[in-house]
Amino acid sequence: MSNYLETTYDVYKEAAENPQKGLCCTTTPVWLLPGLSIPQKMLEMNYGCGSTVNARDMVNSPTVLYVGIGGGMELLQFSYFSRRNKAIIGVDIVDEMIKVCQENMIEAEAQNSWFSSEFVDIRKGSALSLPIDDNSVDVAAQNCLFNIFEEAELKQALKEMYRVLKPRGRLVLSDPTCEQAMPESLKQDARLRALCLSGALPLQDYINMITDIGFGTVEIRAKRPYRILDPENYDTDSLIYIESVEVCAIKDPMPDDGPCVFTGKTAIYYGKEEYFDDEKGHVLLPNQPLAVCDKTAGALSRLNRKDIFISGSTFFYDGGGCC
Ligand SMILES: C[S@@+](CC[C@H](N)C(=O)[O-])C[C@H]1O[C@@H](n2cnc3c(N)ncnc32)[C@H](O)[C@@H]1O
Repeated sequence: MSNYLETTYDVYKEAAENPQKGLCCTTTPVWLLPGLSIPQKMLEMNYGCGSTVNARDMVNSPTVLYVGIGGGMELLQFSYFSRRNKAIIGVDIVDEMIKVCQENMIEAEAQNSWFSSEFVDIRKGSALSLPIDDNSVDVAAQNCLFNIFEEAELKQALKEMYRVLKPRGRLVLSDPTCEQAMPESLKQDARLRALCLSGALPLQDYINMITDIGFGTVEIRAKRPYRILDPENYDTDSLIYIESVEVCAIKDPMPDDGPCVFTGKTAIYYGKEEYFDDEKGHVLLPNQPLAVCDKTAGALSRLNRKDIFISGSTFFYDGGGCC
């Protein structure tokens, strides 16, 4: 194991044995669903930066893989939607984390009459070599683990997720991103990396890593302020602003003209005709916003028409529209 992976192991062994509220500053409110009670210890061990649980991904009781289980809160939330034995598979490399997570599942069972700890199948293993069959899961998720990885490991972890997803399966990710250049000294600081502070990539680089693996569709579902690294407390000359993103990548075939990446852009036709048809599958009705991927937004705006408006990226997209 390389040095920073060993440090990561130690950080999360410690975080399992001594839960540290605020270890990773979660920026989203915890999903509270009708009839769902989340044990206190799971809340204290919420080491993610956003959420990977989205009801839209959870129709028809899908099989979900969740890598990097933490205290198990998202395993429980996924179970809420797939209430059958072994529907939710958790993988983690840290023995101590697995043990505490299993204990938390028993507590969750006591607090939730609908839940059985049998719904969750926790396996020891690495994100870099998943103990999971090819093409076997509908949803594969990770929250705040992949940003820790350096490029080679990130590529490997993404490849593994692609391998185990069924065709059209969904990879759901939540990670910090950063548009500024991260100083090399911070990038190389294994502990800061493990704490999800210095491995953050610019969003476009993060998206490119995902599409380079072969995911044909990517949705940027959320982007929120996350952390500041300031010169007084970190080895940096200027303030570094970190955001956290929620991304869904779909194992769709790669379109000939490249991936469809939805960042929340919309096209609105406001001309005099009944509709506008670009003859590439996009029909715009007057004054009815159509969600478009960045590729289509670019193509429409290159038409230089006076009757089509393209809105900017909202970074809050989860379905509908072109492609
Ligand atoms: C930042 S925590 C996130 C935990 C959880 N996803 C959450 O949102 O609360 C990272 C998790 O990944 C696990 N982990 C670290 N390195 C790993 C690896 N190489 N493979 C699988 N899991 C790993 C840690 O034990 C820990 O549970």
